[in-house]
Amino acid sequence: MLTNDQFIQICNFTQRYLEETAARSEQEWLKSFPRAAEHRWQHTLNVLHNAETILAGEGAPEDVKEIVRVAVILHDISMFVCDHEIHGRVSAEIAEKYLLEEGYPKEFVAKVARAVAEHGTDLGPLSPEEQGKLFSWEGKVVLEADILDKLGASTITDTLLSLGKKDQLGFECRRELANGRAMQRAAFFKDYIWTETGRRLAAQRFGFFLKFLDQLEQEVIDNSMPS
Ligand SMILES: [Fe+2]
Ligand SMILES: [Fe+2]
Repeated sequence: MLTNDQFIQICNFTQRYLEETAARSEQEWLKSFPRAAEHRWQHTLNVLHNAETILAGEGAPEDVKEIVRVAVILHDISMFVCDHEIHGRVSAEIAEKYLLEEGYPKEFVAKVARAVAEHGTDLGPLSPEEQGKLFSWEGKVVLEADILDKLGASTITDTLLSLGKKDQLGFECRRELANGRAMQRAAFFKDYIWTETGRRLAAQRFGFFLKFLDQLEQEVIDNSMPS
């Protein structure tokens, strides 16, 4: 059984790894994103919270909870050391090496690594139903919990924060929220959710996103002169 101290140790390892790799990364996008490591850690904690809600809602057994919680903490650890397309696999490799060195059982480590790798799968070629058949249950929960952080108030906040840096006005924010990357991602990913609890949360969060946009449209004028 994983103790609380062990879990915190894994959290500390991951947080430190993100900080150190972001600080020495050569990736261009990081130059305009000095708090990227803190941002990634905040996202990781959000995903953990989502995963814990799903695990509780689905009545997952203790051993499964441990695999999912550890996989969630490590799922984006490679964010600053590789291209995004392969970050699931690279995170899984880092997770596997670290957990084996720390003496965790092979079977546990293999399940964590599988779930971490699965979250980085290129979604799209397969339907949610077909894709779901290929994933472990733990991998599905990690991915759902990750996607839930792209659907609701948190994604609106992140989008507005990044638009604020570009000195955008209210109507430009509304346009970006309605048609930009955040909406495209949310609309695409919201169906890659398999558990009952995850689906309920996804519907609530995406519903909030749409409601927020609707409200913004009622309040923010998109013309430069009264018509
Ligand atoms: Fe990821
Ligand atoms: Fe993530």
